[in-house]
Amino acid sequence: MTDVPGRTLPVSARAPGKCILFGEHAVVHGAPELALAIDLTTQVVVQGSDVRRLNGHAEGVDDHGYLGAAFARAWPTGAPVDVRVVSRIPRSAGLGSSAAFCAAVATAFSSARGGIARPDLAQLAFDIERGAQGVGSPGDTSVVVAGGYVTLNAPGDPPLWTIDGGDRRWEVRRVEDPGWVWVVAHSGVPRSTADAVRAVTARLAAPDGPDLLARFADVATQGIRAVAAGDRARTAELLEANQTLLREVGVSHPRLEALLDAARPAAMGAKLTGAGRGGSIVALARPGQETDLVRRLARAGALPFVVRPNPNGAELVESPS
Ligand code: PMV
Repeated sequence: MTDVPGRTLPVSARAPGKCILFGEHAVVHGAPELALAIDLTTQVVVQGSDVRRLNGHAEGVDDHGYLGAAFARAWPTGAPVDVRVVSRIPRSAGLGSSAAFCAAVATAFSSARGGIARPDLAQLAFDIERGAQGVGSPGDTSVVVAGGYVTLNAPGDPPLWTIDGGDRRWEVRRVEDPGWVWVVAHSGVPRSTADAVRAVTARLAAPDGPDLLARFADVATQGIRAVAAGDRARTAELLEANQTLLREVGVSHPRLEALLDAARPAAMGAKLTGAGRGGSIVALARPGQETDLVRRLARAGALPFVVRPNPNGAELVESPS
């Protein structure tokens, strides 16, 4: 995987969104996760300015938690810049818009400071997101920095990198792309990742918490194996098993359940993706029924996307010379 080279301002960078297939929430507590970077991106342009600006405006810069965290951790020179952002990733949808923003800004800032190795970029993007959000795992930021399919906390080949979260470390590894088309659908119900993470953390502190976490870990471990083996039918069963557990820890939502019902005739398996309590679902279509699946989800009132993996992860957008 290539590192990010140094460039002089203006610097432009982009990073993809992501979709979690197995293990959200449990990953925060050390269980395995599988996620893929998707072909919806956030692009930023960082250019010199008279004062700090966001999209040309000086007002509101200090209220933007993620940008503030990026300035604090990745822009020690403090030189005033204007950060312009264009994103195709819906916000608060469980599709990694905040991770993509953190990774794109970290890429651009690091390039303007002389370049960065990809493992360091993954740590920096996580530190920025954690700085703004206060809780969570490096799953989102690592997958959007790496691109493709990525596991956390799962055994396998030597890791791409290890992320240090203070009290916990997460190993990040690549899984081969099975070549499937996924359908993601946004319910339009907004929610807070941090609130959902805190609620699940409290639920897992109950006496049956360790047993629940072990069941999450088992489903994710088997799910990672099924995807790596290209076994669609087994993967679909395990998506359903993961949804049962997510329901049990209280992060499903009536709108998500309605979308899962609407998807069923054209999907082999489906589940919520991301923090839940709203946001999006991800579904594996019956082969050849992708269009029907999208139609069913749109009719049920969701915003559906057919997604393919983004193989590159965070990268500079070089202008033609
Ligand atoms: O809904 P999102 O895109 O913020 O994803 C959250 C994923 C969690 O596992 C719930 C939290 C985390 O940081 O891993």
